[in-house]
Amino acid sequence: MLNGIRRFHEQDAEVKKEYYSHDQTKKVIYGSNVDLYTSRAANWRDTLTISMMFSYHVEPHELPSICRSAIMEYINQVTKLGEVVFKLLSEALGLKPEHLGGTLECGRGRALVCHYYPACPEPNLTLGTSKHTDPPFLTILLQDQIGGLQVLRDNHWVDVPPVSGSFVVNIGNLLQMTSNDEFKSAEHRVLANRVGPRISVVCFFTGVAVPPKIYGPIKELISEENPSLYKEFTVSEYVTKFYSRAIDKSGLEDFKLKG
Ligand code: OGA
Ligand code: NI
Repeated sequence: MLNGIRRFHEQDAEVKKEYYSHDQTKKVIYGSNVDLYTSRAANWRDTLTISMMFSYHVEPHELPSICRSAIMEYINQVTKLGEVVFKLLSEALGLKPEHLGGTLECGRGRALVCHYYPACPEPNLTLGTSKHTDPPFLTILLQDQIGGLQVLRDNHWVDVPPVSGSFVVNIGNLLQMTSNDEFKSAEHRVLANRVGPRISVVCFFTGVAVPPKIYGPIKELISEENPSLYKEFTVSEYVTKFYSRAIDKSGLEDFKLKG
C-alpha cells in the first residue's frame, strides 16, 4: 500500500491532474491542503483521498490504475481491523460489543487519506500537517519508517515513532461526542522533514452520513451524575462545520450543551 501510494504521487502532474479537485463530494480527489484557502500557511504535503463517506463503496475502475489493486486490498483489510477495534471500544465503554460497529454503524462510511510529504528544504518554516484532532469516529493510520508524527500530551509534543508492522489508532471527534467525553480525540501534527518522501495512509471511519442518521451521546452512558455534554448531530452537519474552519479548530464547541 505504501509503495502504491508513493508511485501514484511520483507520476507526472499531467497524469495526476485528472483527479485534482476541491469538490469534497467526489470519490477520488487529488489535492494539496484541504484548508488551502482558510489557513495562513500551506502544509508540506499532497494527498490522494478515496472517499466512501457517502457511497460506502468504490469500484476498481474508479481508482488510479497505478495503485488500484493495493487500494482495493487495503480497504478490505483495514475495514475488518476497524470492526475489531469498534468491538473493543464498545466493551471498554461497558456496552455490547456490537454497539459502535453494529447499532451505530460507525465503521460504515470510510475515507482513505493517502499522504505524500516531500523532502522539505526548510522544515522549520512550515509543518507536514498542522496541529488538529481527527473529525471521524475513528482513525487507523499506517506510516512508513521516516517519522515526524507527534501527539500533544500535557502540553508537550511527544514523538509517535514508526513501529514496523503496527498501526496508530486515533479517537476522532465524532466518537468523543458519542462517548460523552469518555474517549477524547488527541491533538496531533506532523513535522516537515529534510528527509523524504514520507508516506502515510489514514483511514477515517465516518459512520452513516446518508441517509442522515442522528447521533449523540449514547443513552446508556448518560445519567444524573453524568449528564449529556453534547447536542444530537448528523455526520454531514459536523463535517461541514469542521471543513469550513481552519484545520486546528475541532468545532466541538458548536455542539456543546451549555451547562
Ligand atoms: C491526518 C493525520 C498523520 C500522518 O491525516 O489526519 O493526522 O502521519 N495524518 O500523516
Ligand atoms: Ni490526523
